[in-house]
Amino acid sequence: MAKITASVFTSHVPAIGAAMDLGKTQEDYWKPLFAGYEFSKQWMKDNKPDVIILVFNDHATAFSLDMIPTFAIGTAAQYLPADEGWGPRPVPVVKGHPELASHIAHSVIQQDFDLTIVNKMDVDHGLTVPLSLMCGEQDPVKGAWPCPVIPFAVNVVQYPVPSGQRCFNLGQAIRKAVESYDEDLHVHIWGTGGMSHQLQGARAGLINREWDNAWMDKMINDPVACAATPHINYVREAGSEGIELVMWLIARGAMSDIEGGQATGPAPLLRHRFYHVPASNTAVGHVILENVEKESP
Ligand code: DHB
Ligand code: FE
Repeated sequence: MAKITASVFTSHVPAIGAAMDLGKTQEDYWKPLFAGYEFSKQWMKDNKPDVIILVFNDHATAFSLDMIPTFAIGTAAQYLPADEGWGPRPVPVVKGHPELASHIAHSVIQQDFDLTIVNKMDVDHGLTVPLSLMCGEQDPVKGAWPCPVIPFAVNVVQYPVPSGQRCFNLGQAIRKAVESYDEDLHVHIWGTGGMSHQLQGARAGLINREWDNAWMDKMINDPVACAATPHINYVREAGSEGIELVMWLIARGAMSDIEGGQATGPAPLLRHRFYHVPASNTAVGHVILENVEKESP
């Protein structure tokens, strides 16, 4: 059986990708940010998954106002890095896992979550920046990401957006789906986006360190209460783009301590936690959790 062994949470700021692609990671502005991911890159090597389910949001790149899926799962064999206006990032093509993705689609839809099936999609910074942060620089042609990736896109750009509670519940359905897949795969689930930031309007530039860190505490230690955070709190406290954080709750809901909407099992192990301001207009948050095996009765 496949199982989820760990979850990774990280912001996805596009300027981080540009800093890596342009060789600026050791500049004074960027150095402290990249230092926070040194542990993570080694951890990825030591805990290489067979597949990553990467929960992210598209930024009007693959989808537009023409079509707005709330939840979309990528079932393709590969995904090309998108051109977001400056040409595609020089990073490897993202290989998919059509078999596991199709199985998850089947199982999660049968558990009453409506997913859009995506057989062709370019992936923007929402997906490639987390991969770059966790896996380091990769040659676009000779290099490769360490394993196949299942892109799982959530609409947090155009209202109405899904609630944190629904995301948390969806995470539980994804775990059930993974655990009913008949192959011994180690799967990571990543929740990306956030933390506090607002890119437009009168409050552009908003950062809220205190709220971010309190939310991160709750996400780790009291996820059931965290999932109940109303969407308006994200917007008020963490800015209009702070709503990206609901995607972290999909990954948190997929951890093995959560059963029937409650935290029942042993809490996951906190392997790494990092917070840094600023990266472009954004506060960056990053957490790694590992599942702890339940003791057999
Ligand atoms: C920035 C952050 C984002 O999450 C995004 O999608 C685009 C830009 C920024 O801070 O510049
Ligand atoms: Fe974003």
